[in-house]
Amino acid sequence: MTIAPSDSILIIDFGSQVTQLIARRVREAGVYSEIAPFNSAEDAFKRMQPKGVILSGGPASVCDADSPRAPQIVFDSGLPVLGICYGQQVMMAQLGGKVQPGHEAGGGGEFGRAFLEVQKPCPLYDGIWQPGEKHQVWMSHGDKVTALADGFEVVATSEGAPYAVIADTARHYYATQFHMEVVHTPDGAKLLSNFVHQVCGLAGDWTMAEFRATKIAEIREQVGDGRVICGLSGGVDSSVAAILIHEAIGDQLTCVFVDHGLLRLNEREQVERLFRDHYNIPLIVVDAEARFMAGLAGVSDPEKKRKFIGGEFIDVFEEEAKKLGGADFLAQGTLYPDVIESVSFTGGPSVTIKSHHNVGGLPERMNMKLVEPLRELFKDEVRDLGRELGLNDQFVGRHPFPGPGLAIRIPGEVDKARCDILRKADAIYLEEIRNAGLYDAIWQAFAVLLPVRTVGVMGDARTYDSVCGLRAVTSTDGMTADVYPFDAAFLSRVATRIVNEVEGINRVVYDYTSKPPGTIEWE
Ligand code: XMP
Repeated sequence: MTIAPSDSILIIDFGSQVTQLIARRVREAGVYSEIAPFNSAEDAFKRMQPKGVILSGGPASVCDADSPRAPQIVFDSGLPVLGICYGQQVMMAQLGGKVQPGHEAGGGGEFGRAFLEVQKPCPLYDGIWQPGEKHQVWMSHGDKVTALADGFEVVATSEGAPYAVIADTARHYYATQFHMEVVHTPDGAKLLSNFVHQVCGLAGDWTMAEFRATKIAEIREQVGDGRVICGLSGGVDSSVAAILIHEAIGDQLTCVFVDHGLLRLNEREQVERLFRDHYNIPLIVVDAEARFMAGLAGVSDPEKKRKFIGGEFIDVFEEEAKKLGGADFLAQGTLYPDVIESVSFTGGPSVTIKSHHNVGGLPERMNMKLVEPLRELFKDEVRDLGRELGLNDQFVGRHPFPGPGLAIRIPGEVDKARCDILRKADAIYLEEIRNAGLYDAIWQAFAVLLPVRTVGVMGDARTYDSVCGLRAVTSTDGMTADVYPFDAAFLSRVATRIVNEVEGINRVVYDYTSKPPGTIEWE
């Protein structure tokens, strides 16, 4: 169970692609917020006891009989409510207004950039917009409100949406046809900030220090005097989770780091130094390189590699947990985007959890419960929490690294010799990126080792060695990515160093493919 801070906002999700952005904007305004799918929103409301509610957009049409609604408790509570797009239509449908499909309401929907005209002052844009002004907003709707519920008035209009912003100031109800959570509504973040501060009256003093204190209390309550085991990957999420849990329950926590031989150069030593020496956290390091390499021999299909590594990882972890005499809880660095239930209108809500870093299946097999203290946080909030816990910027800013490690950066068959070659090339590349001050501008950068040999000449001798590919992309979430445009001098410096310093590589190429159509990793 989550203990929500006393001042919070509940966001009811009707399935919009951008609901997470509402949560982000509210948190950026210093107010804690959580998203709950519409069909479990009543429970969330009772648990959180929020100070205001936001109804998200969504793909359904309120004109359809079985379309989703907000729980009545929201309107009975007397709390401020903000409806966005579908949220506006839901408010009208439930409070006595009228919504019609766009084509019946005299025109198709409105999609993309639009300009609204401010008609009257409104607490939602107090101090931001004045009557008579025009402002850019982002619309995306088919249906339209055609009659207002009692108590509401129109305060801003647009060409395609005569009810662009409506307000019932007596009841503190506001609703917009446009999406204020996206960057294409340039003042959108300010409007959301006005809603939580001015309309809901919240102070905006939610900080990572408060989150840390709340979570520590929550972990202590959940774990009691039980034992917790945590798998460290060397990445930011599991590290922050482990440090936070250790702060809460001390040596009731044991961390396990499995060295599968597919790590970057010196990674294992860095983890040991940080956890064992710096934070004094009980840490077991398992040297499992030999068994992973044995299992990978002869395997060249990318999915087979992933399957083997995932399965073997669970086996190793389970053995270690047994050696410890078992544990009551398994700690994981699961993040908010991994657990938000995405609303589906056919089969009910579905939960998507990335299984990459998780020891999937293990909790059930060993009868362990989960401790997931980062479940409510976004990636950059985890970084903030990491800093709050004393991790340095270099550590919290680390690029993501895939669970299967170097195995998916060596197309074809993987062995220790090839991993060693790749580790050296990758370390040179990253060192040059750091020296050039480019590391933080890049989402992910790494080298790959191709199963191709080409001819070269070094000194007077002919060489016949492997090709190394370099990859660097910018991205915000890994779903799409652009190539990082290094200058030619940088790339030739890296290429020269790799060929000179890494035996086994005699040619370096730069990958110029964006995602889509490429992927970030090569396998
Ligand atoms: P792709 O290659 O699909 O990668 O564009 C998107 C992001 O996901 C990471 N990735 C993985 N992470 N296990 C992981 O833990 C995997 O099997 C895996 N495959 C890709 C990749 O590094 C990038 O950040």
